[in-house]
Order: sequence, then structure tokens, then C-alpha cells
Amino acid sequence: VGTLGDAAAAKGRYFGTAVAANHLGEAQYASTLDAQFDSVTPENEMKWDAIEGTRDSFNFASADRIVDHAQSRGMKVRGHTLVWHSQLPGWVGGLGTADLRTAMNNHITQVMTHYKGKIDSWDVVNEAYQDGGSGARRSSPFQDKLGSGFIEEAFRTARTVDAGAKLCYNDYNTDGQNAKSNAVYAMVKDFKQRGVPIDCVGFQSHFNSNSPVPSDYRANLQRFADLGVDVQITELDIEGSGSAQAASYAAVVNACLAVSRCTGITVWGVTDKYSWRSSGTPLLFDGNYSRKPAYDAVLAALGGS
Ligand code: G3I
Repeated sequence: VGTLGDAAAAKGRYFGTAVAANHLGEAQYASTLDAQFDSVTPENEMKWDAIEGTRDSFNFASADRIVDHAQSRGMKVRGHTLVWHSQLPGWVGGLGTADLRTAMNNHITQVMTHYKGKIDSWDVVNEAYQDGGSGARRSSPFQDKLGSGFIEEAFRTARTVDAGAKLCYNDYNTDGQNAKSNAVYAMVKDFKQRGVPIDCVGFQSHFNSNSPVPSDYRANLQRFADLGVDVQITELDIEGSGSAQAASYAAVVNACLAVSRCTGITVWGVTDKYSWRSSGTPLLFDGNYSRKPAYDAVLAALGGS
């Protein structure tokens, strides 16, 4: 099997990438995407500011371009993201408690209704926990005004809108076992015990020299899977180059393959040319769309050649 998507499929997984709508018209971008990947995540186009920059005025045009592209080629779509403190238009932060609750549930309902039946997994809530050792929630309009129950409320609303989509909690620096991932673990355990609808946990997996692939990555994925949720690697990129970068990528793939409920891997971009990391080369294809050693290592780890 000669492509990432086909090799992953042979292992019962998907292999996806973040996509930006404004690059789909670039021939090499589209041909690399179409040849190699079988899942897409809109990099920015489904975020609150992109879709509902003004209250009750919904603009789906850019996200639709990505979803249409994916659907016409049989690719899965990960929805990213419904409730997040960042890329949140100012009007949301200005609302009082009751109004904010209405706005949050309305946003979830409108967006999920528009894409109903087209989304494999939704990142319902993104990055709700603080970094560092506290394991505490991050301050946000949702946390500060609605309280800690906002996550549960978002998931319950999401389930009523599209019962066919998997509902995920997504975060970063939760890839290994630490105070932050312990806090997310406790939340997921509580949700499963109380019947709050959650199907999956996304591990963003943005790695660099300060935050390398953790040695307990597989064990951490497994402990979440053991709670009865799928796990997904959702925004993978690894700074560096050459054989060291390739080895780190292989370690990520091997960790996912070792966990039966690790259902897929998404890298956070097609090409180094458009990575969100301005000073980096963190992806599988270089700026000229040539395959890097990291690509070869991923394909080999997936059992392809
Ligand atoms: O759309 C405007 C454009 O109109 C303007 O001319 C331009 C000038 O700077 O900015 C454009 O918006 C940028 C947007 O990307 C689209 O390109 C924002 O400034 C920029 O901040 C934004 O960055 C995105 C970032 O999320 C914002 O938080 C990155 O592309 C995106 O890769 C990144 O993705 C996040 C995930 O959603 C969540 N996890 C972390 C990950 C990496 O930060």
C-alpha cells in the first residue's frame, strides 16, 4: 500500500490532515491531499469566529468548500471546533450568563445541523484545561459565566443534534500522563459513569524539543481507551528534521497502532510551506511537496511501502 490513507486503512485507521480552504485551488496542494489522506480537519474554517462572527448570522462558505471536497472524494471530516475560548468573536464574551448559555447551545445546534450526517467526529469542546500542575479549568467566557458544567452541557446538546457524529474532547499537552491529562481523564471517567455523551478524546500532539513525544504516550492513550472512549491523534506535528524527526513520527504511529481504540491520526497540515509554526518544518511534506524522511517513516510504520 503506497499512500498514508491506504496503509492506515489496512490497519483499520484513518490518516488525515488539517486543510485550509484557501489552498485547495493550488494544484500540488490538492493533489497531495487527494493522493495521500483519507480524512480532513478544517484548520480554521469551522471555528466560531469564522462561522458566526456576528450573532445569529452564519457563514458556512469556506467550511463547505472543505467538506464538499472531502465528501466528493470519500474522505472523512473531523469537525473542529464548537466551543473554544480562542478564535471566539468579541460579542460572545460580552454576553450575560443566560444569554451566553443560549448562544452556546444555539451555535452548537446551528453548526451541527448544517453538517449533520457529514462529520465523523466533532471536537465539541477544545482546550478547556490550564497548563501547568494545577489540573484546573482555563478561564474563558464559558467557564467563568456558566461554570464547570458547560462542557457537559455542550456534549448533551451536541448529542441531541447529530446522534451519528462521534463527540470528542480535544486538548494539547495531554499526550503523556501529567496533571493536565489526569484532570481530563477524571472528567471523562465521570462523564462515562454518569452517562454524559462522550465518544472520543483527541490528543493534539504538537511536539518539539521542549515537548517531545512522551515515553508514556501509548500508556496514556490506553488508559483513556480503557474508560470506553475512542482516542484520536488530532493535530500532530513535530518540529525538527531528518532521521530524528522521522523516528519521532514513527513512535507516534506505533503508539496509536498499539491501542486498538486509537482510530486515526491527523497531521496539522499538508506541507511545511503552510504550517502554523512559522519557524518550523514539522510536517511530512516539505515546501515543494517532496516526501520527507518523516513521511517514509510514517508509511513504513503503517506497514506500507
Ligand atoms: O483570516 C485572517 C486573515 O484575514 C488575516 O489577513 C490574517 C493576518 O494575520 O490572519 C488571518 O487569520 C489567521 C488564521 O490563522 C487564518 O490564517 C490568524 O491570524 C491566526 O492566528 C490563525 O492561526 C491559527 C491558530 O489555530 C489560531 O489559534 C492557525 O492557522 C491554526 O493552525 C491553529 O490551530 C490550532 C488548533 O485550532 C487548536 N490547537 C492548536 C492549533 C495550533 O495553534
